[in-house]
Formats: sequence, structure tokens, C-alpha cells
Amino acid sequence: MARQNNSFVCQQCGASHGKWTGKCDNCGVWNSIIEQPALINKLRGISKKEINKIEFLSLVGKEISEPRLRTGINEFDRVCGGGLVSGSALLVGGDPGIGKSTLLLQTVSSLANSGIPIAYISGEEGIEQIRLRANRLGLFNSSVGLASATNIVDILGTLDVEEGPKVAVIDSIQTMYVEGVDSAPGTVAQVRSSAQELISLAKRRLLTLLLVGHVTKEGAIAGPRVLEHMVDTVLYFEGERTQHFRLLRTVKNRYGPTDEIGVFEMTGSGLVEVTNPSELFLTGHSDQVHGTTVFAGIEGTRPVLVEIQALVSPTAFGTARRAVVGWDSARLSMILAVLQSRFGMNLGSSDVYLNVAGGLRITEPAADLAVAAAIISAHLGRVLPKRTVVFGELGLGGEIRAVGQSLARLKEAEKLGFKNAILPDFPVGIEKNIKSEIGLNLINVSLLQDLSSIFDLK
Ligand code: TYD
Ligand code: MG
Repeated sequence: MARQNNSFVCQQCGASHGKWTGKCDNCGVWNSIIEQPALINKLRGISKKEINKIEFLSLVGKEISEPRLRTGINEFDRVCGGGLVSGSALLVGGDPGIGKSTLLLQTVSSLANSGIPIAYISGEEGIEQIRLRANRLGLFNSSVGLASATNIVDILGTLDVEEGPKVAVIDSIQTMYVEGVDSAPGTVAQVRSSAQELISLAKRRLLTLLLVGHVTKEGAIAGPRVLEHMVDTVLYFEGERTQHFRLLRTVKNRYGPTDEIGVFEMTGSGLVEVTNPSELFLTGHSDQVHGTTVFAGIEGTRPVLVEIQALVSPTAFGTARRAVVGWDSARLSMILAVLQSRFGMNLGSSDVYLNVAGGLRITEPAADLAVAAAIISAHLGRVLPKRTVVFGELGLGGEIRAVGQSLARLKEAEKLGFKNAILPDFPVGIEKNIKSEIGLNLINVSLLQDLSSIFDLK
């Protein structure tokens, strides 16, 4: 008889092991490994008649008449790439309590106003609780169909009908379970099977599926990342619980650009869209304070101005401290090294703190120059000329490299009343173009050393 190679799968991280062990080598969790029957190579035993031949079709075909459903909440639509796609599955991840349920309830209620049938299925809250929330959000006349359920078989049976809802929210996928899968809700096996069933229903019925997923402490969507591969779009809803605004960020999108952000403010009566995020991230004090610069960044397709704050102080004990909020700490170390070797700034016995104001997290290398300028400003105790924005990438040789979308950055700065921009030399050919469109005083820098003379300008 052929040997069955059963596999041993960790229910926390999904890692597969050759034999049973008490602790998963991959994620370090104890007692999470369960033996699963192997998929035996059945093919040999299958006769030709039993195989359903797959059919190949051409790339061009009949299009769906309304490919995108606009929810009417612009920040949400933009993050999805212009609205929800029929038959797609979207995952909204985020910390518990950050506002995922609120966001989705508001979004689908807005969508329901255009007459689209919608189901909101909660496994976490009872109907009364959801109604209470809807009341608070002022959604009195919404036609969203509410249900409290956790059994996937029941949910599938209800949604899989001819005149069923066009959009379904599952809040949250960790509370759902498939009967017959031998593990508790929230485990990899349950999350994966529940999502699989729902997604295949979505594709079959052209239903838009919005899944809510809680994120674990480590930052992975619990039921570890398995969902990210299965769905079409992954959005993260982030923010500090102590601050009022929230960012909705695209992590993956099969139907649109990634790295797009939507900005909301959490108020007493729900989430409110923030249409001009730059105003939110600028305090208005940036001109007077040492160590503060304004970075003209791009988030997704949108320019956003943010304040970068640096603090340099003498080290009290032994090793110098470097602390970063909202930026990459390895990148900070690199900039400090470049500042030391190319600018002659010795920060070996100073603590350096860097903060991106407002809780935004920047990943663009274009912020290098603004960070360097903030550190120089903090160290020298001098400020840049009033109303100045900065952007540019820093090379290891101290050279300032050009970055993309200069025009969009400059236009946003001009719109918000800035007067000067410190930026890299333009790539050949676009200089004239920019100068004719932008009324800012453009200060081009090609080397880090060029900054020192700018700090003397007033
Ligand atoms: P919720 O949507 O329940 O979070 P999640 O589904 O991500 O777990 O949001 C809960 C938080 O939002 C809660 O701390 C209270 C706050 N909140 C408001 O500040 N204003 C409101 O109008 C609502 C509905 C919630
Ligand atoms: Mg919730």
C-alpha cells in the first residue's frame, strides 16, 4: 500500500513540518501543530473519463456593464482604485477597536442609498449593538440587511440565491467557522476554509465581498497572512487610538494602484473624510521651531505635505540613542553616517530622535533630504527660510538625487501657501516645464553641503 505522507501544520502561522513537534519552529508557538491528512496522489487512479477538461478562452470577452460600484465615500473609493469591483474579495485589516466596523457600516450604508442590496453579517456584535452604532452614525434610513451569524454553511445558503445581495460584509472572518473543519474559529484552518468558501461564492455570483480581519500584535492578519493571498484587495485601517485620524492604506490591489491612502477623522458621530490631508499633518508652527522641516511627499497618487521633526540632545549615558517614529530606522542610520562623513557633523555622542508628525508612516526615499535638513537644523539651532518645503533622495556620496513627481509635490506646496522649495536638480528636459508652472522660489541643491548656505538665508 502506498504510504500516506501526512503533514503537520501549525495552526498559528500555517508552516508545514515533517513531523509533530510541541513547538512550531517558525512562529515559536506551543501546541499549535495538528496532523492533516496528505493529499494523496490520486491522479494515477483516476480514469480519463472522470477528468473535467478545462476550457481556454480569449482575453477579450463580454464586459460587465458596471465594473465598479462607487460607494460615495471618496476616500474609500480611491483606495479601492475607483470603487468596488463586482465579484471581488476585499480584506480590511486593522487593530481591534480602530474603527473597521464603523468604516464598513458607513461605507455600505452610503452604497445602499443607490439602491444596491447589501448584507452586513456580524459574528461579533448582536443586531441591537449594530443598530445602536448605526443610530450614532445617523444612519436611520439605511436599507442595509443586518444579520448576526457565524456558520459559513448558513451564510452561503442565504447568499447563494438568484436575487441575493450584491455586496456582503463579513465582520469578522475570525469569528466564522465551517462545520466539519476540526478546529476553533480564528485558527488558520477555519479562517482559510471560511474565506475560501465565501470567495468562491463571490466569484460565482459576482458578489462583492468585504471581509474584516483583526490584526495580531505582530502585525499579521490573524490566520497569518493566509488571507492576503486569497483576496483581490487588502486594505489596512491604521491609526493611533489616542489620535483622531485614521489612515486606510492599500497593501495589495489586483484592480488598482497600491500605496494609496484614504484619510478619515474619527468623531463622536463616526468617520468623516479628510479631503485635504496636508492640512492635517502640518501644525503651522514649522517655521519657528529648530529641527522641523516640511516634506513634500507623495502617498499613492496624492501629494501630501508632512512635518518632519528632529531632536538632537547630548547623550546622558554611554551609548547614543536613536529613536524613530514614522520612518525607517535603518535609513536614519544611513543619513546620520552621510551627515558625519560628508557634512562633518559628529553626532556620535548625541541622542537623535526623529518623528513624522501626525502619525503618518513614510516609506519614500524622497524624504531623505527633509530628514537631513531637520537634523542639521536641530543640531545647528537654525531654521530654514520661512514657508519652505523640502524633498530629494540622498546618496551615500552626499549627492542629492532626483525623485519622481516633482511637479505634483510643488503644486501642492504652492496651493498651501508655501514660498520656497529645496529640491534636487531637475532631470534634463523638465526644468523649463516646471519653472513655467510653479510660482515658488526653487532652490536646487546637488550636494548635501549646499544646505549649509541655505540655513543662513533669511
Ligand atoms: P469599531 O468600528 O468597533 O472598531 P473595530 O471594528 O475595528 O474593532 O470602532 C470602535 C471605536 O470607535 C471605539 O473605540 C469608539 C470609536 N467610535 C467613535 O469614536 N465614534 C463613533 O461614532 C463610533 C461608532 C465609534
Ligand atoms: Mg468591529
